[in-house]
Amino acid sequence: MDMHPVGAGASRGLLRFLTCGSVDDGKSTLIGRLLYDSKLIMEDTLATIEKDSRKHGTVGEEVDLALLVDGLEAERQQGITIDVAYRFFGTPKRSFIVADTPGHEQYTRNMATGASNSDLAIILCDARKGVLTQTKRHTFICSLLGIRHVVLAVNKIDLVNFDEATFDRIVGDWATFASGLGFTSLVPIPVSARFGDNVTLPSGNTPWYRGPTLLSHLETVDAEHGAEDKPFRFPVQWVNRPNLDFRGFSGTVASGRIAVGDGVVVAASGRQSRVARILGPDGEQPAAAAGEAVTLCLADEIDVARGDVLAPLADRPEVTDQFAAHLLWMDEEAMLPGRQYLVRFGNLWTSASVTAIKHKVDVNTLEQHPAKKLDFNEIAFCNLSLSTRVALDPYGENRTTGAFILVDRFTNRTAGAGMVNFSLRRATNIHTEEFLVDKHARAGLDHQKPMVLWFTGLSGSGKSTIAKLVEQALHREGRHTYTLDGDNLRHGLNRDLGFTDQDRVENIRRVGEVAKLFVDAGLIVLCSFISPFRAERRMVREMMGAGEFVEVFVDTPIEECVRRDPKGLYAKAMRGAIQNFTGVSSPYETPEKPELRIDTLGKTPEQAASIVLSHIRHLLDQ
Ligand code: ADX
Repeated sequence: MDMHPVGAGASRGLLRFLTCGSVDDGKSTLIGRLLYDSKLIMEDTLATIEKDSRKHGTVGEEVDLALLVDGLEAERQQGITIDVAYRFFGTPKRSFIVADTPGHEQYTRNMATGASNSDLAIILCDARKGVLTQTKRHTFICSLLGIRHVVLAVNKIDLVNFDEATFDRIVGDWATFASGLGFTSLVPIPVSARFGDNVTLPSGNTPWYRGPTLLSHLETVDAEHGAEDKPFRFPVQWVNRPNLDFRGFSGTVASGRIAVGDGVVVAASGRQSRVARILGPDGEQPAAAAGEAVTLCLADEIDVARGDVLAPLADRPEVTDQFAAHLLWMDEEAMLPGRQYLVRFGNLWTSASVTAIKHKVDVNTLEQHPAKKLDFNEIAFCNLSLSTRVALDPYGENRTTGAFILVDRFTNRTAGAGMVNFSLRRATNIHTEEFLVDKHARAGLDHQKPMVLWFTGLSGSGKSTIAKLVEQALHREGRHTYTLDGDNLRHGLNRDLGFTDQDRVENIRRVGEVAKLFVDAGLIVLCSFISPFRAERRMVREMMGAGEFVEVFVDTPIEECVRRDPKGLYAKAMRGAIQNFTGVSSPYETPEKPELRIDTLGKTPEQAASIVLSHIRHLLDQ
């Protein structure tokens, strides 16, 4: 169904809403019911569903409304890239956009994506189960996402015999929880998505309920989006340059409005110009407002790239690389502070890491607790650091430029969703000083190319033994070297770290920074660390210049390490006397593409060292 922009023809304008709940709660059925009862399903779709319901439906002779939604979903899944399906429908009173999220997936992720421009959320719960942790989590996430209007759809009310006391108890539990979360309206409605009670028509089965039906509430709730009244923000989606005579910047106005002649600034670079033309779907237009997709042409040839944000001169976003934010973690693999993730702000991709977890929030009690890592479905308030400066706003002021997602660098899964609270004045006023003597000058004195030889492998694999011999040989040749070793650094710089995953991440992060300084000093740095995670090995690799990082995988099978057990640690770990021992009770992720893999079985340490030396020989004198 085709809907027109905000306000077209409808007295109350457009309402964007989102549904939170799982298939079991009846989410698909509820949306299906809304569409079906407001006669908004195309006839042919309906015929298919009626047929399919008889074939696969789970509700006997009636039409299975969930099939409607699931059918549309299958269509959507061919598009793969979007997490959220937007469905458009309307009644004579109002137009609606529903951000629907697949119920069978890990919907929290999709919820976060779909919610950022929703005005209202319908949170479903099953009347038989009442308010669950999930209900509270959804309610809390909605409040973090800046949604001000929530409906608690107490579904399957027929299955509790339309019992008023059950409904009242659920509403009481929910209201106690939600009352402090800053919502403007909290409306609980007893519904049966399956039979339609209180969805579009008041139900005769709930004479005790005097509130609105779901549809009439959606039609009348006063939930203005307000994005047009905020400062102008235009995240550039692509630079449109078909020929030398035309250069335009395409994207969707995230907030505010812009008119021809208005001054704009490229937030990150500070370059300024004026809007010369605005091109919309129907050609030139004098102005554009939030939600409109347009191409802007500027009066001057200034540098603008995909991901830049255009803003008014007098009301600019912050430009920062450190900020505090709420983070929802939705990956099975825990978020570890110090680990690098890809981050996406609007159309801009860069990398980010959490520098500190200030606290995590228990979604049942809303209590704040200290945390060292974030597990699946956890929510925390964190400090983050970016590898480039980004234009952003606090989420409370702008739900587009204040939102970001974190993506796992190996799996490309969306791992976290965040809402910016405020930028931190950390490194923003600190500039990088250029020195008169640089890395090459320093290394030139020793006639060597500075580099890192990174030895990774299990404890007892022979890393340190081989590294020692390599260093000795290099030293004899007159090379200037230094060795960083796990055991040694853990007595000093890293004495505060243990062997949990998060401590190992921090261990390698610090080692990487120190190695980088030594490389800058012109040295050949030998690093000998288990470094069990590929994410951190890759991070250190990326900290160095091209050709400066040589990863040496000391590949000794665990059985052999256990047999050698030079420090008696495997024996202890296997009796349970040492926790989180690599290879025993903590993982080791094998390097995928090391520069060098050394199988130590059947080789003396001297032979292994000479393999390393011959590999680096041609690199050393560059
Ligand atoms: S890493 O995993 O963070 O890279 P690192 O190389 O610094 O580890 O330290 C590993 C050394 O610490 C091992 O060689 C071993 O001597 C000692 N050690 C003590 N406890 C553990 C443990 N639980 N797991 C691994 N190594 C341990």
